[in-house]
Amino acid sequence: MPDDLLNSFMTGPDENGRFGDFGGRFVSETLMPLILELEAQYEHAKTDDSFWAEMHDLWTHYVGRPSPMYFAERLTEKFGGAKIYLKRDELNHTGAHKINNVLGQIILARRMGKTRIIAETGAGQHGVATATVCAKFGLKCIVYMGAHDVERQSPNVFRMKLLGAEVVPVTSGRGTLKDAMNDALRDWVTNVDDTFYCIGTVAGPHPYPAMVRDFQAIIGKEAKEQMQAAEGRLPDTIIAAIGGGSNAMGLFFPFLDDKDVNIIGVEAGGKGVNDRMEHCASLTGGRPGVLHGNRTYLLQDDDGQILEGFSISAGLDYPGIGPEHSWLHEIGRAKYVSITDVEALEAFQLCCELEGIIPALEPSHALAHVMKIAGDLPADHIIVMNMCGRGDKDIFTVARALGWEMGDVL
Ligand SMILES: Cc1ncc(COP(=O)(O)O)c(C=O)c1O
Repeated sequence: MPDDLLNSFMTGPDENGRFGDFGGRFVSETLMPLILELEAQYEHAKTDDSFWAEMHDLWTHYVGRPSPMYFAERLTEKFGGAKIYLKRDELNHTGAHKINNVLGQIILARRMGKTRIIAETGAGQHGVATATVCAKFGLKCIVYMGAHDVERQSPNVFRMKLLGAEVVPVTSGRGTLKDAMNDALRDWVTNVDDTFYCIGTVAGPHPYPAMVRDFQAIIGKEAKEQMQAAEGRLPDTIIAAIGGGSNAMGLFFPFLDDKDVNIIGVEAGGKGVNDRMEHCASLTGGRPGVLHGNRTYLLQDDDGQILEGFSISAGLDYPGIGPEHSWLHEIGRAKYVSITDVEALEAFQLCCELEGIIPALEPSHALAHVMKIAGDLPADHIIVMNMCGRGDKDIFTVARALGWEMGDVL
């Protein structure tokens, strides 16, 4: 692990996995030994050069890192203000940032002698990344996916099956990411001997939030180096979309100590942040509680029952948020805003038309916020936005939302 990131490990979480009042380890007795074993393995790997050498080799030759830092000239011209750069993590193998983290967890699983990998997925990108890496290493792969997500992300379901994974549709709740994660946790408790749970975001019990963040921090580390090379300085503002918050933590983490850099996380505002909870903006519209093994901001009713969020984007459709984001929100180091489905769809179309990049619906939310603020900023203000996924998986959803029949788009 490079020295600059190693030093940052001292800033959090504490030994109980707490970021301030958030995070921790709220799990059953049965899971505790597994979690402690994973923590010990990860603590060892963090300072093991051979672990990071294997990661860097795979990041370079299998994933295609470093992902480019691209100056979005026509978007910049269109808004006439800040310079807009896109960190192109959608160009990674499998089309999103998720594989950065999956590689780390699968290398750990192999070191622990685990042969059966389980994962949850929302948009399907984490499921595809897990199925991909399992195929590469000859590991059994089972992916839990909400039945609603199976339907709206069908291209990714097909990809997972081609890659040899078993996809288990989850029909409880509203059939989305929260429900898939519940079932994956249940599987883990019942198959403790051979199974490794590969979590796709900075959520879950400690050590997952910190571990996933550390594996994704390659995004921010590269972004720093690339901005120094391109502009001779750090950006003024960095922006990323948030489901559970892994691509955002990956970009933000290496910048946390750079106090002059503004950090903005963009949650899914769905149909608008209102009392009917037709959104997934956990920080903007939720309050602290416990879900999936950690304490964080959640969408919940007065009795603490988790509410089903809503977003056009399957990857942002999670009623919680990683605990480190809750902490950054409370200490004011990062600002969190929300973007509606309609605004995200506008940004999606503009990016296609002006830059020749079809973005996933998730980063389209971040882009919509860039579009809101860029015009009011001076020309020497630099924005870096994480383009964390490509939009192939979303074309059917977008077609439906725009009222197009796939047969007669011409
Ligand atoms: C392309 C893409 N971006 C973002 C997300 C949201 O996840 P996270 O907030 O952990 O980055 C997902 C989740 O599936 C995704 O597929």
